[in-house]
Amino acid sequence: MKKIFITYWSGSGNTEAMANSVAKGAGENGGEVILKPVGSALADLVKDADALAFGSPAMGDEVLEEGEMEPFIASLSSADLRGKKLGLFGSYDWGDGQWMRNWVERMKGLGAAVDGDGIIAQLEPAKEALALCYELGKRLAE
Ligand SMILES: Cc1cc2nc3c(=O)[nH]c(=O)nc-3n(C[C@H](O)[C@H](O)[C@H](O)COP(=O)(O)O)c2cc1C
Repeated sequence: MKKIFITYWSGSGNTEAMANSVAKGAGENGGEVILKPVGSALADLVKDADALAFGSPAMGDEVLEEGEMEPFIASLSSADLRGKKLGLFGSYDWGDGQWMRNWVERMKGLGAAVDGDGIIAQLEPAKEALALCYELGKRLAE
């Protein structure tokens, strides 16, 4: 059974809804899912997972949420991520997804096997975006 660790930051619930769909897809495909809001003491969960999914809305000016998600991402090294399947997702509003393009490149730079281009949803995720998150979860559990 694959261990899938999913962590996210969400201020108004949009990215959280995406995280829940990733978790549902992974769980329904036989994965052992650990789903947690981002915070401290996550290093061992990252190391122990077979696959990862991280979610953050676009914040600041096209950056990750700066209080908790950015420090978490900054704490990761290529030893944690090299060759590991990683899904990225998040909600945005007025931008064009630049934060996600930057995030995908950053994680590829640490050697993660990033799934596609990341999944983005404007504000509250529509059912199409939630379906993409569900499919992502299924792939992560394969
Ligand atoms: C302080 C702040 C900064 C934001 N900066 C951006 C931004 O740079 N680009 C963008 O597209 N949306 C930006 N947004 C919009 C959020 O990404 C959007 O409201 C998103 O749906 C929030 O997701 P959440 O419900 O998971 O917190 C910002 C929102 C806030 C509150």
